[in-house]
Amino acid sequence: MILAANDENIARAADILRGGGLAAFPTETVYGLGADAFNSKALARVFAVKNRPRFDPLIVHIALLDTLNTICNLEKLSKTARQNLKTLASNFWPGPLTIILPKNHCVPGIATAGLDTVAVRFPSHGVALKLIASSTGAIAAPSANPFGRLSPTRAEHVALHLEDKIDVILDGGPCGVGVESTVLDLCAPTPRILRHGGLCAEELQKVCVVETASQIPSEKSPGQLPSHYAPKTELIIFEQGAEPPLEAVTGQETAVIYFSRGGRQDSRQSAAAGKKQFFLSETGSTAEAAARLFELLHELDSQGLRRVYAEKAPESGLGMAINDRLNRASYK
Ligand code: TXA
Ligand code: MG
Repeated sequence: MILAANDENIARAADILRGGGLAAFPTETVYGLGADAFNSKALARVFAVKNRPRFDPLIVHIALLDTLNTICNLEKLSKTARQNLKTLASNFWPGPLTIILPKNHCVPGIATAGLDTVAVRFPSHGVALKLIASSTGAIAAPSANPFGRLSPTRAEHVALHLEDKIDVILDGGPCGVGVESTVLDLCAPTPRILRHGGLCAEELQKVCVVETASQIPSEKSPGQLPSHYAPKTELIIFEQGAEPPLEAVTGQETAVIYFSRGGRQDSRQSAAAGKKQFFLSETGSTAEAAARLFELLHELDSQGLRRVYAEKAPESGLGMAINDRLNRASYK
């Protein structure tokens, strides 16, 4: 059941959550599949519906800073980490940043896959905030897609695979950011990015020392598998600024996604005339490209193509998150 995300339906969805049901809802990053974070049974259903392995912990979404004191044991943080939390929260919350913190007992082990840490996110989307505040104040929500598949940036993407398995989908239109939140581990000796996402590393580094490990140990980020965010259609990536293979532009059942239109030679444009080619951003903005990424992959996935080629983004701004998603989506 898809419902417009108006106040009445948000209240209805909040009732469903309080009663142990599952509600998909928009956030500024992607749509989430929400369940009461304190209800183990509801959380078990989230794993079942998504076909998600139990070792992959969930993010708990809050709508009030105070809730941190309920779900986290902040005493366990070092003094520096506590200071960092304060700085990060005041600069970036609400927003697309998830912070890993020591967990409190009231959060059931199933939410955190048995870890003694909990991922916390304070989203900025008005619908998400209302829904969280009018339910139990702590909503666990993975992205609302079957495990390993493309993340949903529209209510219809959620409906495609999950509509008959969950209780309600709140439709709040397309998500503005388009890639998931950045996951930052504050329990590490130095704050460490576990997943690049909607808040870029450069922004984080302006207010706090942040480590960007290129290889994150899997026990630190249990959900970051090499294959993830995968479309059904085969996806092949090529280096930024390079030419895709000839087949990409001449083949009948292929499409090419370029990062941006800028700098593309005329000759290529004409060679590709009449072919399926797309630009993630007209202007070369990584934020614009991120907002379009999953949207376009969903669209192309419905066209029965044989293969999609995608150019990598520059490794700055949201380009890190885009390339992370492209790498995993194309992993074989
Ligand atoms: O933008 C987002 O973060 C979206 C929206 C719905 O808020 N949610 C989302 O959730 O992307 P999900 O479940 O698809 O991804 C959660 C990521 C996984 O990679 C998981 O391993 C990591 O967060 N994570 C959760 N708890 C963790 C923990 N305690 N320690 C390390 N990583 C954790
Ligand atoms: Mg996900």
